[in-house]
Amino acid sequence: MQDESAAPSRGFEAWKDAFRRHLAPTSSEPIGLVVERALGVWIHGVDGRRYLDLLSGIGVANLGHTPPEVVDAVARQNVRHHHVMVYGEYVQEAQALYAAELAAITPAGLDSVFFVNSGAEAIEGALKLARKATGRRGFVAFDGAYHGDTLGALSLAGNERSRRPFEPLLGPLRLLPFGDARGLAAIDETVAAVVVEPVQGEGGVRIPPPDFLPALEARCRATGAILVVDEVLTGFGRTGRVFAVERWGVRPDVLVLAKALGGGYPLGAFVASGSLMRVLAEDPPLSHVTTFGGHPVSCAAGRAALGVLLRDRLAERADTVGARFLDSLKETLTGLPGVREVRGIGMLLGIELDTAARTRVFVEQCRDRGLLLGWTLHHDHIVRLAPPLITQEDVFEEATRTMAGVLEASG
Ligand SMILES: Cc1ncc(COP(=O)(O)O)c(C=O)c1O
Repeated sequence: MQDESAAPSRGFEAWKDAFRRHLAPTSSEPIGLVVERALGVWIHGVDGRRYLDLLSGIGVANLGHTPPEVVDAVARQNVRHHHVMVYGEYVQEAQALYAAELAAITPAGLDSVFFVNSGAEAIEGALKLARKATGRRGFVAFDGAYHGDTLGALSLAGNERSRRPFEPLLGPLRLLPFGDARGLAAIDETVAAVVVEPVQGEGGVRIPPPDFLPALEARCRATGAILVVDEVLTGFGRTGRVFAVERWGVRPDVLVLAKALGGGYPLGAFVASGSLMRVLAEDPPLSHVTTFGGHPVSCAAGRAALGVLLRDRLAERADTVGARFLDSLKETLTGLPGVREVRGIGMLLGIELDTAARTRVFVEQCRDRGLLLGWTLHHDHIVRLAPPLITQEDVFEEATRTMAGVLEASG
């Protein structure tokens, strides 16, 4: 889509050269979109084109890019103070009040927030908390799981190919089938923590049957295993509730947050009851610390973003508008070449195609036509959509027509 208002930057050939030579690669074929700016649902390239961000920077920009409320809050915090002391020592307004606001909206009893810098780091904290609180060593996770790429978080990955080069990983670990309540009997009194995504993102947008998460909670209560629910992707309205656990009435022992938590800035958190969280402050004290965790600018940005999410009832919007987008995608794409299934919950949607090759071409051709989407980490034949929760319906309609056109042409 052509962007008439964009004034392309100069000198970007040098950025591309520096990117290619000096930025550590994560794959052999980076997308390489040269970003001029990002506003609302659009990312503007230096080529003068604008791209609809159907990924929200992978689940971060739930309010769209650079929302004015967040820009203002960051500007105000920027002139007050940046980092002043390692986490947990000084009282900082943005950090303390954000913790209180999160405690008020997370499931009952989760009233103590440990801020860190990312999702993987929050998972690490949750694993340490569970081991220290229970005195047990074992972990349980699920096939298809993704919890981040640090060694501890990677230890929970439900994908053999991701794990193998880095073994031995943390254990003992048992990987159980995601969505199958019958497998939960394997959770026993040796397990410190069971870590689960309410809806798997990188595992291929997998939505569990209604009995699974309540049965998991019951099994954790019966065995004393700590239930860690990873809402890094699903939190902050993505699935049509502020937190996805609300859909199933499940109360985690530890809730893990990141991505949209920081309103576009780096921030992660694990949230638990005050009594559980105390174990990290004693014997020895400072059992878990971080320098930058809960950075005041990230907390100011996150508070502003949460304020907008609640004020504009964006979780409800994700539920209703997301359901209409899903219906329209199903109606339009089902039966087109290669389409196996279209599924979703709120504004987390998946299009399962027949092959990785077709998926790759689909994603590239959508990008050529101004749509940013991608396949999931563990399944390269499943396309994931996680659009900003503010996306207008006519924009979804046009995107649906574009996707259909690409698939029709793929024969
Ligand atoms: C469910 C889930 N957990 C954890 C993570 C890791 O978060 P981060 O990339 O901030 O370390 C991700 C990242 O995609 C995620 O989707």
